[in-house]
Amino acid sequence: MGGVARGAFHNAALLVEWSGALPALLGLVKEVEARLGRRSTPRWGDRVVDIDLLWAERKHRSPALIVPHPKLAERPFAWEPAREVAPWLPAGRGLPRAVPVGSIVTTLALARPTRADRSVHQRGVAMKFFIDSANLDHIRQANSWGIVDGVTTNPSLIAKEGGDFVETVAEICTIVNGPVSAEVVAESTADMVAQGRLLARIHENVVVKVPLTKEGIAATKELSREGVKTNVTLCFSPVQALLAAKVGATYISPFVGRVDDVSRDGMQLIEEIVALYANYPELETQVLAASLRHPKHVLDAALAGSHVATIPFAVMTKLFSHPLTDIGNEKFTRAWDGVPDRDIVSQVTRWLERNGR
Ligand code: E4P
Repeated sequence: MGGVARGAFHNAALLVEWSGALPALLGLVKEVEARLGRRSTPRWGDRVVDIDLLWAERKHRSPALIVPHPKLAERPFAWEPAREVAPWLPAGRGLPRAVPVGSIVTTLALARPTRADRSVHQRGVAMKFFIDSANLDHIRQANSWGIVDGVTTNPSLIAKEGGDFVETVAEICTIVNGPVSAEVVAESTADMVAQGRLLARIHENVVVKVPLTKEGIAATKELSREGVKTNVTLCFSPVQALLAAKVGATYISPFVGRVDDVSRDGMQLIEEIVALYANYPELETQVLAASLRHPKHVLDAALAGSHVATIPFAVMTKLFSHPLTDIGNEKFTRAWDGVPDRDIVSQVTRWLERNGR
């Protein structure tokens, strides 16, 4: 409806029994929408979820809610799914007469973001994991676990390790076969561009990290034009993310933890940027959730559809941990002690030879 939405929508209807007042049900529905990640969107635009109260045995009219939905009869996409759960609703126009008491039909429309079908979220590719570190031992260890797709560094992380900046970046590029962010430290656009061009020459995987200032955005535009990959950092608002996308940044880094630190919801920033970018499917900029402090941040970034999460070593380690995994593993190991021949390699090798494989 209205010609604004770009993504595909899945429609489904729910039949609800509700003995309370309809506005209270509307309140519940709004809460469910919010918990599923709905944020304010343009009228008729793409949204994560949209739950409408379509029809109820009791009529209701208030500024916030009109039931039955005034346009119900004109909307087969709502009407037809509704009839799947409430067959007593008549096909086509008009409202039913004899109906089960207390029944309410709601439709639930779920939007599938257009970008989900595009290159950044290809089939079989989950959210990418970068390690947020300049510690070579940590990077080597995490890389050996097979889950590291790239690395981000920043001046604080480099300073913490105490090594030479360029040598560290070059070494990281030999460890991880993926994007490695190295940050410029300059104030003017010209200096940022000059540093960025040089950093990009260290290795083809170097991504030049640029702060989200006027000078940084201008530098990103120039570096993008020259084919240098960029990561626009220190992003704290969706409009800032829009600026980075407009100048062709490869990545935008919204800082979740630092927003949480000032008592705001950092993850909302990721959700809003993902939603905002999804409105413009031609944008190539990827959302890189940064300043992540614990595994829940990683989970929420993935649920929000972030393309990348950059994760400190300590948090990456915690992603593996679950007490039930440890207990279960311990039990299986103990049970295996009771198996007569425990040498799997010799057993399988003999079996393969016997069976001519
Ligand atoms: C990564 O690109 C950022 O520099 C990093 O995630 C910032 O994290 P912090 O807020 O923990 O310093």
